[in-house]
Order: sequence, then C-alpha cells, then structure tokens
Amino acid sequence: MSTGDARSAAPAVTAQANPKRKAASLSWLVPAVTVGGLLPLAVLIWDAYSGALGANPIQRATLQTGLLTLTLLVASLACTPLRLLTGWTWPARIRKALGLLAFGYAALHFLIYLLDHGFSLGVMFEDVLKRPFVTAGFTALLLLVPLALTSGKNSVKKLGFQKWTRLHQLVYLSVALGALHYYWGVKKDHVPPLIYVGVIAVLFAVRFIKRKPTKKKAGPEKTSPA
Ligand code: HEM
Repeated sequence: MSTGDARSAAPAVTAQANPKRKAASLSWLVPAVTVGGLLPLAVLIWDAYSGALGANPIQRATLQTGLLTLTLLVASLACTPLRLLTGWTWPARIRKALGLLAFGYAALHFLIYLLDHGFSLGVMFEDVLKRPFVTAGFTALLLLVPLALTSGKNSVKKLGFQKWTRLHQLVYLSVALGALHYYWGVKKDHVPPLIYVGVIAVLFAVRFIKRKPTKKKAGPEKTSPA
C-alpha cells in the first residue's frame, strides 16, 4: 500500500478527480498510528503494574518514555522529507498525530522525573540550572508546549499560515536539544544517541536540499514544517 504506487499505476487525473475517495481510503491511518503509538504506554503501565520494570522502575520508566519521546519526534520530523523524496502524501497526514504522541510521552517523562524528585519544583529548577543535561531536556519540552497548544486547524487560521509555520519551526530546536539531552545523559555507550543525531542531520539535510528549488517554482508550501 502506498500513495506513490497508486499514483504511478493510475493516471494523475484519476487521483485528482477522486480526492474524497483517496482521503477516505486512508481514513484508518491516523487512528492506526495513534493506537500503535499508545501501545508502548500500555506495555509500560502493564510492566509497572506487574513489577516487570526491575529494581529501579522509576529510572526504567524515565528511560523508556525519554526514548519514546525522541523516537516519535524524529518520526514526525521524517514525514516531510519522506513526502519530498517519494511524492507520497500519507506521511503528511500522520505527522500531527506523531507530534502529539511525542508531546504526550515528553509530558509523561517529565511527570515521572517530578515523581522521582518528590514533585518539588524547587529541586527541579535547581537541577535544571545545575545540570546541562537536564537544562537541554527541559528546554526541549518547553519548546514543544506552544506547538502542542497550536496543533489544531483553528490555530493556523488564528495565527495566519506564515506565523504558525514559523512557530512550528521550533520543533527543529526541540529535537536537536532532545538528542543533545540524550547524548549528555548516557554514561557509557554513546553510539545510540549518535545514531539519532545522524538520522536528524540527514532529515534536516533532505529538507534543506529538496525544499529550495520547489519554493522558487511553486511558491510557499501549504503544509507545516514539522
Ligand atoms: C522533548 C523532551 C525530552 C526528550 C526528547 C528526552 C529524551 C530522553 C532520552 C532519550 C533519555 C535517555 C534514555 C536512555 O538513556 O535510554 C532521557 C533520559 C532522561 N531524561 Fe529526558 N527527555 C526530554 C525531557 C526531559 C525533561 C523535561 C526532564 C526533566 C526535567 C528529563 C529528564 C531526564 C532524566 C533525569 C533522564 C535520565 C534517567 C536516568 O538515567 O536515570 N528529560 N531523556
């Protein structure tokens, strides 16, 4: 199943003539991504309930939610490069769901951190000021807040497309800080965070290279940057 395959198999006119049918045929995509994205949460809750999180369940839950946040952020960031490279339209449809899932896991990651610190905001702010690793994570989370709050279609109308697009470019900074937070946070094996850094760099590069000529020819694109 792919929009790209369908497009190459049928004349372009057919696809354009049936936009509603095409949209309906992919109506399962966002619910499927949402359910798939919530599955790790269900597993985490089950593991916590059944005592399968090991000797330090809070640390284990912090690590798992941190990794899920970064992975989903990277996945949401991959949607536009994938669309630009393949011409498929479906990645654009799941981008918002991936971004909101990432934000949900980031909020949970932060809540678990707060739980670990007795819900003391004083201790939390001290930690944010003292440890650059926590500063980076906290800033990455703060940057996601306005994006989550303006993820609805109404916000695009209210802010105007250009302002909204500029605001949503904060996701680049957030994902970069998230990766830095991960890199600074690991004690021994720096290969996994470096893999994330590499993937993010490739995604940034694809967007940069593929976007420039398109803009000149077709004018500004009517999609969000994330
Ligand atoms: C977008 C925001 C964030 C992302 C993407 C993120 C991502 C991550 C990742 C990938 C890890 C490491 C997982 C591993 O080593 O396997 C991690 C660990 C951690 N994060 Fe975050 N994080 C974010 C926000 C925060 C915030 C706001 C805090 C607290 C104020 C925080 C506190 C921690 C702590 C304490 C750990 C280490 C847990 C341990 O080693 O025991 N993170 N995070």
